[in-house]
Parts: sequence; C-alpha cells; structure tokens
Amino acid sequence: MDKKDKWHGVKFLWPYLKKYKFRGFIIAFSMAMVAASSALNAYMMKPILNNIFIKKDEQMLTLLPLLVILLFVARGVFRFLSSYLATAIGVEITNRLRSELFEKAINAEFEQIQSKTTGDINAHAIQTLLKLRNIIAKTIPRYIISFATIIALIGLILYLNWKLSLIAIAFASVLVFPIKYFGKRVKGHVLNAEKTVSKLSDSINETFTHIDLVKVYNNAEYEKKRFDNFLDKYTKYQLKLSKYQEATSPVMELFVSLAIASVVYFGGYMVIKEGMTVGDFFAFVSALMMLYAPIKIVTKNSLVLNILDSYIKRIETILNWKQESKALEKLEGEIESIEFKNVCLKIGNKEILKNINFKIEKKETLALVGKTGAGKSSVLALIFGFRKPSSGTVLINGKDITKLNIDSVRDKISYVNQAAGAFNASIKENIIYGLPYDKKRYENAIKKSECEFIEHLPGKDEYIVGENGKKLSGGQRQRLALARAIYKDGSLFVLDEATSALDANTEEMIQESIKDIMKSKTTIVIAHRLSTIQNADTVLVLSGGEIIEAGSYKEVSKTAAFKENFGLKGDIED
Ligand SMILES: Nc1ncnc2c1ncn2[C@@H]1O[C@H](COP(=O)(O)OP(=O)(O)OP(=O)(O)O)[C@@H](O)[C@H]1O
Ligand SMILES: [Mg+2]
Repeated sequence: MDKKDKWHGVKFLWPYLKKYKFRGFIIAFSMAMVAASSALNAYMMKPILNNIFIKKDEQMLTLLPLLVILLFVARGVFRFLSSYLATAIGVEITNRLRSELFEKAINAEFEQIQSKTTGDINAHAIQTLLKLRNIIAKTIPRYIISFATIIALIGLILYLNWKLSLIAIAFASVLVFPIKYFGKRVKGHVLNAEKTVSKLSDSINETFTHIDLVKVYNNAEYEKKRFDNFLDKYTKYQLKLSKYQEATSPVMELFVSLAIASVVYFGGYMVIKEGMTVGDFFAFVSALMMLYAPIKIVTKNSLVLNILDSYIKRIETILNWKQESKALEKLEGEIESIEFKNVCLKIGNKEILKNINFKIEKKETLALVGKTGAGKSSVLALIFGFRKPSSGTVLINGKDITKLNIDSVRDKISYVNQAAGAFNASIKENIIYGLPYDKKRYENAIKKSECEFIEHLPGKDEYIVGENGKKLSGGQRQRLALARAIYKDGSLFVLDEATSALDANTEEMIQESIKDIMKSKTTIVIAHRLSTIQNADTVLVLSGGEIIEAGSYKEVSKTAAFKENFGLKGDIED
C-alpha cells in the first residue's frame, strides 16, 4: 500500500470518532495513567531497595507496600476505563456503519445492487464490521497504551541512567528486525486464512440454500468433499500462521536475554565502580523487562493501519454505491399513460431490448407475450426505474421517467413479481407490507385474491410464512402476492406471471378479480395463458428483445408468431 493512503482508514473514521470527544478524553487520560503507573511500578524498585533493604527505614516498610497496592489498583481501574469505553465506542460506531451500509445498499441503483451477491453484502455488513469493531475496540487501544508505556519506560530509564539506557536501546532496536520479519510472514497467512474462511461460508450458504437439489442429486458426499477441501486449506494456513506466531517468542527471548545480560554487566560495573545505587540498578532492570511486552505488541501490530484501511475500503465499496436520486420532480396524481419511444436496453454488450415502441392510456391493459428470455420482465425493469434505457425514452404521463422522482412513480404501482416473493413474516404483514392497516381494504384484498386458505392456517393471518414463503405452496404464495398488490391499490397494476402456479380452478376464480382490476386500472400483464390476455387492449409479442407483432388481441391472435408462442395450431376462437 502506498504511503499517502496509510491514514485513509483513520480519516474515514474521524467524523464518527469526533462525536466522542468527552469519552475520547477520558480514554486518552486513562491510557496515559496506565503508562505512567507502569513506569512508576518499575521506579518503585528504587526506594524499596535503597530505603527498606539498604537503609532499613521502618517508616518506608509500611508505606511502600501500600503504595505498590495503590499503584496496581489505579492501573487496573484506568485499564478498565480505557478498554470499556473504547469497546463501547467501537460497538456504537460499527453498528452505525451497519445501519448506514444497509441504507446505502437498499437505496442504491438497482444495477449496483445486482453487481454484488447477497453473500457479499452480508459478509461486509456482518463479518467485516465485526473485525473493524475489534480493531477499534481492542487492537488500536492496546497499540496506543503500549506505545505510551514504551515512552514512559524509556523516559524512566533515561532518567535513571542515560549511559546504560543507550546500551539497552541499542540492543532493543535490534529486536525490531526479527519481529518485523515474522510479522510479514504472519500477515500473508492471515490473508490466506481469511479468504478460505469466506469460501467456507459461501460453501455452507450455497449447499443449504439448495439443499433440495443437493439431496435429490445425492450429492451430500460431493458437497462434503468440496467443503473438506477448503477446510484442509484452512487448516494448513492456520498451522503456518501459528508456526510464525510462536517462533517469534524464542527468537525474541534470545535478544532480550542479551540485552539484559549486557545491562547486568555494564550496570553491575557502574554500581561497583561509579557509585550507581542498587535501587537505581534494579529499577532500571525492571523497566527494561517491562519494555518487552509493549514493544512486542507495537511491532507486531505495526500493520494495524493497513488492516484498518483494508476493512474500511471493503465497506466503502458499498457505502459509495451510486444512490437513486430523490431530488427529481415528483409525479403527482395517478399514472395515466405509459409510452415507450424507440427504447433500447443494453446490459454490458448484450442487447436485451431493441427499439421498443408502444403506448397505453389510462385503464387500458397491455399484455406482453413471448418465449422465455424474450425480454418481457426487462420491459418492466424500465418502468420500475431499475434500469435506464441505453437509448430512447420511457414516458410516464408524458414525462421522461429518468427525470422523475422514481419513488413517486413506484408509490403508484401494484406489482406481483414473477417469483411471487414473500417475506419471513406473518401473512398479514406480507399483505399490508409497510402500509397502514385498514380492515375493509384488507378483507377485500383477501377476498379478491382467493386467499381463503388463510382460514385453515394455524394462527390464520398471524401465520409466519417462513424464509421466502417456503412454508406456503407456490400457488398460495402467488395469491398472497396478488393480495399484497390489491391491498396497495396502485393506479398501475403489473402482473408478471401472476397465475402461473395455480391450478385451472383457482386460476379461473382469480381471473374474475384480474378482469376487475383490468377494467378499473391501467394494467400490464405477462402471461403464458390465453385466458389472462384475452381482455387486453394491446398485445405485444416479443422475441429476442424485439416486438414482432403488436395490436389488439383479435389481430395479434391470428398471427403465426402468436400461435407459435402459445403452441397453437389452426384458428383461435375469439
Ligand atoms: N442482470 C442481467 N444481466 C445480463 N443479462 C440479463 C440480466 N437480466 C436479464 N438478462 C437477459 O435479458 C434477456 C431478457 O430477460 P427477461 O427476464 O426480460 O426475459 P423474460 O421475457 O421475462 O423471460 P421469462 O419468461 O423467462 O421470465 C435474457 O436473455 C436474459 O438472459
Ligand atoms: Mg420474466
């Protein structure tokens, strides 16, 4: 990573940290106190030896042990204060970031959202932020305390005997090299281990999302092998990691013993020949020994800024997603007309829609038919503002949709999606989906969508439908989706294969409601069944992203393209 980026993570966090001025001050003060009390602890050796053991001062004999206790208690209290407050800040900041991440992700442009997998978004919102919390709450405070302690202890030894200090510092600085060397090795393996962990979690996700496929294809063994493969790699990286981590200690100890031996030699010489007091000497040695731990922490974590930065960058990929604009002109009133003028849609290099032209007026019905992959759902994506035309214009009430506040358009749309999606909530919550509850409207929605099955569910409309509605049948889910659309009562109804999972009987019953909707609302239907489209004012036959036939049902149903699409031979009755 280049130098100028080194503080990127800190700069990013700064606006969040700034809010914690008071707590930050207490943390900084506590940290300074921890460092100072460590140095004082070492310094205590001087009066203890000189006054109690050499001068045999009885007053000091009662005073000094008390002072030692006091120092340790104080250090404990300040350590607790700083780490508790730092953890609190870490937790609060990362949860705020989580909430922002969710908000940015949900309000991002559709194409941005599609560029990542759900797993990616999930991993950033949960795991990356968990790691970030540990860095803010643990690693950085520990780093700062260690740094402050090093300064305090070095200050102490310089104060006690600067000549001896220079000798010790010379040895200590040599120490840095092995730590750096092992640190680099460790970092590489940490990264590898992390990557394997995310593969492991992908593997679990995928296997259990498609558990029905795994089982019917009898691939439990196969999936287990794939999982174990990642696991083997993970084991390998973890072992290497631990090897380098553990090898650091013996090497360090050798260097430390050299430093201490030299200080014993030169210090002893100074005590014998130059009149250094025994107390000074032992205080010096204590401080030196106490330096070992914080130096280890500081050098080991010398990459903490880089690691912080890499986590921040990961969450920034989502935080910087392009947001849907909310500032544009609002669409007032109902949706009256929808017009496509020479609309083309490209995704990447692929032409999905070519030169689409049509217009529907208020309360008219447009039916889109065509083989799978023809581009029917893509026409809807343009009306919902999920995608923008690569050329041409989509007009709502005569206004270019890209110039309209898209929320104000969506507010007026009732939509049954192709997958008949459901949320893991109660039937009732699924139907009113965020709107205020209105008894009459609610009962009407249930009646019109033939949702009588609700009466037979345990708990009726309090029944929780499971993840993606998996505790309902496909047809029940579709009726639930229709009930949601009817409850919303938009001025535009969009039904993408709304009845595909229903048996002929149920479909026929629902058909009445759909006919009602078509009469009173502007409607766009996509259907593979004739019954749904017979009442359409305009039928478009799509093939390969192009309109190949267009007109009233009467006209279009006579064309070869239409017949082929519906697998019909001969004439169709009107
Ligand atoms: N996100 C995407 N990226 C790339 N290509 C896409 C994407 N979404 C759809 N397509 C392609 O666009 C074409 C039209 O897809 P669309 O979903 O509109 O078809 P459809 O007519 O609704 O089909 P079906 O009846 O199966 O629902 C397909 O060839 C599809 O592969
Ligand atoms: Mg589709």
